[in-house]
Amino acid sequence: MKADPAPLPKILVLVSGSGTNLQALIDASRERDFPGQITAVGSNRPGAFALERAAQANIETFVVDHKNFDSREEFDAALMAEIRRHNPDLIVLAGFMRILTTDFVRAFRGKMLNIHPSLLPRHTGLNTHHRAIEAGDDFHGVSVHFVTEELDGGPVIAQAEVQVAPDDTPESLAEKVLEKEHILYPIVVRWFCEGRIQLGSDYILFDGEILKAPMRLPDN
Ligand code: GRF
Repeated sequence: MKADPAPLPKILVLVSGSGTNLQALIDASRERDFPGQITAVGSNRPGAFALERAAQANIETFVVDHKNFDSREEFDAALMAEIRRHNPDLIVLAGFMRILTTDFVRAFRGKMLNIHPSLLPRHTGLNTHHRAIEAGDDFHGVSVHFVTEELDGGPVIAQAEVQVAPDDTPESLAEKVLEKEHILYPIVVRWFCEGRIQLGSDYILFDGEILKAPMRLPDN
């Protein structure tokens, strides 16, 4: 008798908004050889369109509405309880617009990824496209990193670059970056599920070797 294949790593995605990155991950996870399965999608916003995308794909959803909690600690504790119920191998933040407490981040250290629309360490925080233009940056882009206590400061696994054109607006730049996000995130999630990337104390191991600089998505 043939042994059952090992179960695929379970991925839980946290979202707050439209969920185009979630969609890219759902689409990728439908590929026959994808090494993980999205088992749940959670949101802090009941009206997030991302929840509809998950429902369309028959993925279980849950909402922990931050407005129902008096403090960040209480919200995080409720979110943590929901996450633990699903027992994921990987938590993917995909446009999840809440700052998480240190306890939360520590509880899932090495198992939580975020996507940030800039070439970190440049432009942490919000309004990155506007700020890249204001700063006169020639290049802008997207980073996927491990989530650590430092906001947008965890070790960067991979980046993709776009060129800033003289006539770019924050909106046109966001569009170009988003296109790269949808390519990059599924690639990194795939690496994680294949066991190729691990978080060390302040470094990343990629295929067992210390990653000296973020992996780069080749230009087109
Ligand atoms: C993306 O730009 C992501 O980098 C940022 O929030 C946006 C989410 O977009 N963190 P979507 O909800 O995946 O469409």
